[in-house]
Amino acid sequence: MHDMRPEDVRGEWREYYWRYFDGTSRRLLITDEETRFPTGELIVSQTDVAGIITMCNEAFVHMSGFSREEIMGAPHSILRHPDMPKAAFADLWTTIEMGKRWSGYVKNLRRDGGFYWVYATVIPKIVDGAVVGHTSVRREPSRDKVDELAAVYATMRAEEGR
Ligand SMILES: Cc1cc2nc3c(=O)[nH]c(=O)nc-3n(C[C@H](O)[C@H](O)[C@H](O)COP(=O)(O)O)c2cc1C
Repeated sequence: MHDMRPEDVRGEWREYYWRYFDGTSRRLLITDEETRFPTGELIVSQTDVAGIITMCNEAFVHMSGFSREEIMGAPHSILRHPDMPKAAFADLWTTIEMGKRWSGYVKNLRRDGGFYWVYATVIPKIVDGAVVGHTSVRREPSRDKVDELAAVYATMRAEEGR
């Protein structure tokens, strides 16, 4: 994944060097600009078993700020916001690898450094008893829940030492 560049970012930014689960790292430029979830729409994507994006809808392209070419074949962690606790994604992966659905509130990073909150449900696709890929469907999150989860995630991050 490419480092984020100041010329792509809208607003004042803070810099992070983020280390991903697979050991790669990326320069992140983060702003406080929120894009609200488009009411009445769903943001949908499909991945292979490793979380590499194989399909997404127009709302995904629009909300992430990336082009379709940049998204296809990228890992889902391209949207990873440093405000999300590691434990949330550990729970997601443990659940879907068992073939179960996972739901939760996720703060996602946009290409321009801003963010958007979603309520995501990740559904594993099972063929002949084996997980072969995943679908994620995101709905508009409740504002009260977003405020609640932002505080919970801050506590979890502190427990993770960040
Ligand atoms: C179907 C599916 C959808 C996902 N959607 C997101 C997402 O919208 N935002 C996100 O940060 N991670 C998402 N993930 C989790 C990422 O794969 C990854 O675990 C996460 O971004 C944390 O990155 P890391 O494990 O490299 O630290 C999704 C995973 C799957 C399988």
